[in-house]
Amino acid sequence: MHFTVLTLFPDAFRFIEEYSVLGRAIRGGLVSLDTVDIREYATDRHGTADDYQFGGGPGMVMKPDPVFAAVESALAGIPDAERVATPIVLTSPQGDILNQDLVNEFANAPGMILVCGHYAGIDERIREGLITHEVSIGDYVLTGGELAAMVIVDAVSRFVPEVVGSAENVEHDSITSGLLQHPLYTRPAEFRGMPVPEILRSGNHADIERWRRQQSLERTLSLRPDLLETAPLTNSDRVFLASLGWSGVPG
Ligand SMILES: C[S@@+](CC[C@H](N)C(=O)[O-])C[C@H]1O[C@@H](n2cnc3c(N)ncnc32)[C@H](O)[C@@H]1O
Repeated sequence: MHFTVLTLFPDAFRFIEEYSVLGRAIRGGLVSLDTVDIREYATDRHGTADDYQFGGGPGMVMKPDPVFAAVESALAGIPDAERVATPIVLTSPQGDILNQDLVNEFANAPGMILVCGHYAGIDERIREGLITHEVSIGDYVLTGGELAAMVIVDAVSRFVPEVVGSAENVEHDSITSGLLQHPLYTRPAEFRGMPVPEILRSGNHADIERWRRQQSLERTLSLRPDLLETAPLTNSDRVFLASLGWSGVPG
């Protein structure tokens, strides 16, 4: 999976390039990340990438010409067959809110181009002429699209084989599985008077699996009952949920 990120602040991406699981995936060649400085595509010698708003108003607007040139240059480096399948994503508080379906869609693409807005936002012609997807990471406003782009790169990269170990590692995660995950424990077996549930130390794998599934269902019912409407539930899941007072859709 190849990510090209267009930004005014390429250094911001050092965090994901250097640290933790994603940094290791990049160094290991499982994921590649090019950060492109939009200013390098500016047409004047000062590298001007933003300007005042037509009509007046607070804040600068990112100019269309450097962003078009940067995206076109990124597209030129992608093989023809992959180019049409490559999403060109604008990070924006006006976009579709990032969720698992969107992450899955992006993870199936050969790569992605991400455009980070800044200041008051981008010239509308960028949205009209270049962008295939507009994505928000939540209903609040950030100062720039860099953090949003990092969130997208991180969430999508988890679905690149081997980035987080086996496929099982991601399939059991909250939301991805359709439910919230069961509680997790590690050593010590007792901490400040809080013991690890005995069943997890019993060595009985069938009982542990049943307990985890029930914890997962109980937690989802309590914290995110909306997920139960679409979660893949077995008949015994439904019986268990009904015993907790769930009156959801029968199977
Ligand atoms: C200060 S915001 C501009 C917001 C713009 N004035 C508006 O009201 O839609 C600057 C940039 O941060 C990014 N951004 C802000 N909030 C975001 C969010 N919730 N999700 C994704 N990107 C966001 C976008 O790239 C945006 O162009």
